[in-house]
Amino acid sequence: MSLNIVILAAGQGKRMYSACPKVLHPLAGKPLLRHVLETARQLHPARLAVVYGHGGDAVRQAFSSDTDILWALQSEQRGTGHALAQALPLLDATLPTLTLYGDVPLVEKTTLERLLLQSGEDMGLLTVDLDHPQGYGRVVRDEQGRVRGIVEERDATDAERAITEINTGILLLPRGVLGGWLAGLKNENAQGEYYLTDVVARAASGGMTIHTTHPAAAWEVEGVNDQRQLAALERVHQRRSADRLLLQGVSLADPSRVDIRGHLVCGRGVRIDVGCVFGGEVHLEDGVAIGPYCVINDARIAAGARLAAFTHIDGASVGANGVVGPYARLRPGTELAAGAHVGNFVEIKNSRIGSDSKANHLTYIGDADIGARVNVGAGVITCNYDGANKFRTCIEDDAFIGSGSQLVAPVQVGKGATIGAGTTLTRDAPANALAISRVRQNIIADWKRPSKKDTQ
Ligand code: UD1
Ligand code: CA
Repeated sequence: MSLNIVILAAGQGKRMYSACPKVLHPLAGKPLLRHVLETARQLHPARLAVVYGHGGDAVRQAFSSDTDILWALQSEQRGTGHALAQALPLLDATLPTLTLYGDVPLVEKTTLERLLLQSGEDMGLLTVDLDHPQGYGRVVRDEQGRVRGIVEERDATDAERAITEINTGILLLPRGVLGGWLAGLKNENAQGEYYLTDVVARAASGGMTIHTTHPAAAWEVEGVNDQRQLAALERVHQRRSADRLLLQGVSLADPSRVDIRGHLVCGRGVRIDVGCVFGGEVHLEDGVAIGPYCVINDARIAAGARLAAFTHIDGASVGANGVVGPYARLRPGTELAAGAHVGNFVEIKNSRIGSDSKANHLTYIGDADIGARVNVGAGVITCNYDGANKFRTCIEDDAFIGSGSQLVAPVQVGKGATIGAGTTLTRDAPANALAISRVRQNIIADWKRPSKKDTQ
């Protein structure tokens, strides 16, 4: 679209009481500023500028791979008008300019599109009626209902404070006038700041038409000034994500007890119990059932798989009809084939587990390639690390690894081989062989345990 967008994000966020710049605080796992940027990009602006200041280096660092951003430094916070002026040299003066706030993360693309459409070549304000308008700039209208200006709370008369229509700060400035308007701003007000909002009175007195548009919901324009407001917007966002899933047919045991901090794609008949947290890119295919309190990041869970309570998955995939957990941990690079079972207190990293193989109890599998129908007994450990290097363990189809065995990599277990319980496997086990390294058992009859010495 032929448009400049400027995101004002130089604010310090004093009331967050945090060393982290306000716009880097996460909402649904993503910095506030990223939410605004993603919405802005959906409008395809010709120029996309961010005014930054407090914690500037950290902010720029966090967005260093977003090469479309034009950065404008506002080293001293002298008001919203002064902030926008810093971005002016980066903008295309022949285009209108839309201002957004870095700490107003949930404004919807459709609302902004409506603002642009309704305003056309004129000025557009996004305003909203609030039961409690305290703290906001009020929209002052004349007897005909035309907008005359915006007055900040601290500069308002009692009559103006009674106005419930507030300025959200999101406004569309027509082309060709911005430079002159910003240069003409004065800071003769209660806060000694250059108010961007003063351009509204300037436009009105110049006879310009000022359109007002409302967001579909008030939370779209709510800002984050403190942790309480951030938490409230997080809930709004999560509830909306949950509603979207419910409407797609996903069954959520409690839509207020699921957190999606990324992108969750669900097939048909998916069930999710309470307390689950999803991050990154997660795909749950048809019929997947997720038990309570699972944490799942960047994962693909194939059709019909079941994850029992407290399962932790990160960068891994579960095959069709797989069964995982409770209390299982699949770390990056884990791929379970169809029908594989992974039980409680089993940790798997960078390993492939073949179809219908089982590792059901208290096991560590790292850097392993395990074939189909392998049984990994309780307490088996792959010793994949010698303190400096990592080595792979290879277990072929139909092998049986007895409980309490250690497989010292690099080592190979051939097809159909059996490893006796308690073996420390340091050499390859051939196919179909039994490998056992257990110390032979001795029996000493009528054993007398040592008794305490009499020290007196
Ligand atoms: C501003 C508006 C007010 C509106 C309210 C909506 C002005 C003068 N007032 O007030 O009418 O109701 O937002 O939330 O515009 N910022 C900078 N540099 C500055 C000052 C602010 O980048 O020097 C940024 C902040 O980071 C923030 C935004 O501008 O993203 C708004 O600043 P803030 O100080 O919160 O403005 P308010 O006083 O709340
Ligand atoms: Ca504010």
